[in-house]
Amino acid sequence: MQTSIAAFKRPRVIRRTSATFPVRRIGNDYADEGFNNALPGQPALSHLFAGISTFFPVGERFMIASAQSVRDRIEDPLLLADLDAFVRQEAQHASEHTLVNKHIARGIGMDHDEICREVDALWRWIERNCSPRTRAGVTAATEHFTGFIAEVLLRDVEFIDSIPDGKAKQLLVWHAIEECEHKAVVFDAYKEVGGSELERVALMALYTLPVVLTASLPVFRLIGGHGDATNLRSWAGAGNALVGRWGWPLLRGYLNYYKPGFHPNHMPTRELEQFWRDRLQITDDGIKTHG
Ligand SMILES: [Fe+2]
Ligand SMILES: [Fe+2]
Repeated sequence: MQTSIAAFKRPRVIRRTSATFPVRRIGNDYADEGFNNALPGQPALSHLFAGISTFFPVGERFMIASAQSVRDRIEDPLLLADLDAFVRQEAQHASEHTLVNKHIARGIGMDHDEICREVDALWRWIERNCSPRTRAGVTAATEHFTGFIAEVLLRDVEFIDSIPDGKAKQLLVWHAIEECEHKAVVFDAYKEVGGSELERVALMALYTLPVVLTASLPVFRLIGGHGDATNLRSWAGAGNALVGRWGWPLLRGYLNYYKPGFHPNHMPTRELEQFWRDRLQITDDGIKTHG
């Protein structure tokens, strides 16, 4: 199925930057979009994507603050430009997902900040108790998660084509492209402020279980709240996708972070990003590619 551009409000470049990527906005209205049925016949998988959407704004707020906390220690002008563009891209993601999340949370009678309260509490605890460098290290780890998950999804053209054309699909692809575009920025900033290899992998190892557990709770709330907890066919479908279809690529992507000397650009996605920008006709002639 070819993506129908007519179904979308195309992302617009709102800021040409001297960074290696531009900042874009969609500005959709999501009042009529059924995010908990984005994948027809697959409620558990739909709730998974909706649940992930619920905690993006609080996660992006944490990552923006972390990036800004080390900004005054960055001297490389290109990295500074990328860091500022990273902040602006994440701010756009947060504002778009906030519009969506009101409807997702209301669907089970919750407020959008209540549905993801545990993972928000985790990020706020890290903010209160850790140094700017450690927060940058945790943000680099978080960006690794979003980067490899985005890559696995964008490489699965058949899966994305199976999502009915609409705002949910557009939001997913736009956000995934930009996560790939800026995946190395905070990593480089963390290195520039003195993050060591040992600390980098230790932070990922310590952070993984708490973040995965707390970030899973909104998904389970949506599954329970929509009465899908006992829908075994739906669980089987989600398990098949998460384990059978994406299990190994996701695990391999995660484990890459533990390789000595790892850098996010060791997982190249420039061609993949371009493929999807072309497919969604996202005009970004302000972009410069990494060498
Ligand atoms: Fe984001
Ligand atoms: Fe990101």
